Amino acid sequence: MSVVETLVEGAYALIVQVASWFMALGLLQKLFLIIAFPFVYSITWQFLFSLRKDRVPLVFYWIPWVGSSVTYGMQPYEFFSNCQKKYGDCFSFMLLGRVMTVYLGPKGHEFVFNAKLSDVSAEAAYSNLTTPCFGKGVIYDVPNWKLMEQKKFAKVALTTESFIQYVPIMREEILKYFSTDPVFQGKSGKANVLKTQPEITLFTASRSLMGRDLRNTLNSSYAQLFSDLDKGFTPLNFAFPHLPLPGYKKRDNAHAKITETYMELINKRRSDDGNHDKDLVDALMNNSTYKDGTKMTDQQVANLMVGVLMGGQHTSASTSAWFLLQLGERPDLQEELYQEIKKAIGDRELKWQDLEKMPLLNNIIRETLRMHHPLHSVFRQVIHDLPVPDTKWVVPAGHYVLASPGWSMTNEKYFPHAAHFEPHRWDKLAGSGGGFIKETSNLDTNEKSDSVDYGFGKISKGVSSPYLPFGGGRHRCIGEHFAYTQLGTLLVTFVQNFKWKSKVPDPDYSSMVVLPSQPAEIEWERRE
Ligand code: HEM
Ligand SMILES: *[C@@H]1O[C@H](CO)[C@@H](O)[C@H](O)[C@H]1NC(C)=O
Ligand SMILES: *[C@@H]1O[C@H](CO)[C@@H](O)[C@H](O)[C@H]1NC(C)=O
Ligand SMILES: *[C@@H]1O[C@H](CO)[C@@H](O)[C@H](O)[C@H]1NC(C)=O
Ligand SMILES: *[C@@H]1O[C@H](CO)[C@@H](O)[C@H](O)[C@H]1NC(C)=O
Repeated sequence: MSVVETLVEGAYALIVQVASWFMALGLLQKLFLIIAFPFVYSITWQFLFSLRKDRVPLVFYWIPWVGSSVTYGMQPYEFFSNCQKKYGDCFSFMLLGRVMTVYLGPKGHEFVFNAKLSDVSAEAAYSNLTTPCFGKGVIYDVPNWKLMEQKKFAKVALTTESFIQYVPIMREEILKYFSTDPVFQGKSGKANVLKTQPEITLFTASRSLMGRDLRNTLNSSYAQLFSDLDKGFTPLNFAFPHLPLPGYKKRDNAHAKITETYMELINKRRSDDGNHDKDLVDALMNNSTYKDGTKMTDQQVANLMVGVLMGGQHTSASTSAWFLLQLGERPDLQEELYQEIKKAIGDRELKWQDLEKMPLLNNIIRETLRMHHPLHSVFRQVIHDLPVPDTKWVVPAGHYVLASPGWSMTNEKYFPHAAHFEPHRWDKLAGSGGGFIKETSNLDTNEKSDSVDYGFGKISKGVSSPYLPFGGGRHRCIGEHFAYTQLGTLLVTFVQNFKWKSKVPDPDYSSMVVLPSQPAEIEWERRE
């Protein structure tokens, strides 16, 4: 008999013996063993894991698979801070069966955002969530080089020239909302910013990026479709991309309908006289040919539009909800901003160029992004064993790495009086006098770092600033200037029309972005 056969026979005999022993037990004993087994297994696994010198320390947990999901999911920053006290800036925790390695602070930003393409993958971490919502062939459903090119294609609609055109259009949308939405009728009232801000964001973004022709067909059913799509964009979708539930069906239906509308729009544009807005539709129709010569199909172009719109939707809507709530507690800042606007433009219409001349306006946005960053965690899946610099630790392939600029930005070490909303903390910042942010700098970093181009324009090479609201590296946001334009236009228009009061609610971390918890209301009063 060969060694293998002996082993197999031995194992077989052992299994039979264990099984017969198990069968002889009473029902309660059986039940106990069945329930206890995963716990014993998990604790043994954690013990063996903790013995390995080449592993990042793992946060202990009792419930197998679930791990630290609940504590992390409810209060991520508090969870990180507590872990940091025990383990330092780098530690791992269990999240629904996945091992997540967190690296806090500027070194962690460098570790995750500037990790090599061959070591980590964003698409492996995100595509369960994004692909069903955006559709196939775009963003995280393509190899990274294609994403880099798609970002370049979309950026054509995100230039200074475009913003100059967008500001009056956005303003028109906002004023229309103020004059028609039931919430803003009369001389005073209450507005739930969790309802108004997503709507205003969707209308201003759709109208500016997708053009007048689309906005004219934007009726309540379009908003409803977007809301259906949105409901499929939750943390649950990371783990369960497809379930036979009504919500998932609605999501898929909404995606099909929205992209159908976009494709009709593309076809209409093809046959018109070229006399339309220079927007995202135009930019992608003009040039969405990859460097290998293949062209994006109309369906893919439509999907990319959904992706770009969704990328900006939650982030901008939550940011504006938060600054309205924060300013509601600060009538002094509202007045100061009102004067800044008056000084900059008097009674004339707002132009994009004016936004640059309003330091307080931009510092309010900057401070809101610091205190209320929409994304508390940024992930990558490790695809090739990844050493943690200056340690003996290696994060193995299959695990995930996590960075949290939102944690640094609300941490006393980097921002004294971090819990205090103070836009003036940015006043002395080099370059903040002009208010706006230069394309190549990771804005508020004082470091003069080199730049690098991953295919969608030059960005700052270093990402070791504690202030990193738009991320860094090859996945850096392309929507920063659009967001500042949209948010600036909104806030100016708000302050020109209203004064308001509110109480800042606690953050709710349970959805895709960090939202104010209910009731998130402002009490407004129309200005004379
Ligand atoms: C306040 C507003 C916004 C914030 C705070 C924000 C934040 C971010 C962050 C942190 C990332 C990096 C994600 C990662 O590394 O995994 C990112 C990427 C991105 N954002 Fe934004 N964003 C905002 C607005 C927008 C807008 C308005 C658009 C579109 C017009 C947009 C489009 C994108 C795109 C296309 C990416 C690239 C994704 C990738 O390469 O993997 N974002 N954003
Ligand atoms: C994506 O979904 C698949 C199938 O449900 C699952 O095996 C995988 O772990 C998920 N990925 C992430 C990053 O959660
Ligand atoms: C809304 O617009 C869509 C096309 O974009 C159209 O099919 C639908 O009938 C419209 N609904 C209403 C209520 O006007
Ligand atoms: C698209 O191309 C046309 C014709 O060359 C040009 O007039 C237009 O400005 C371009 N649009 C964008 C967004 O660059
Ligand atoms: C599209 O853009 C790329 C660079 O961004 C350029 O090389 C190419 O010529 C453009 N194609 C057309 C048809 O404009």
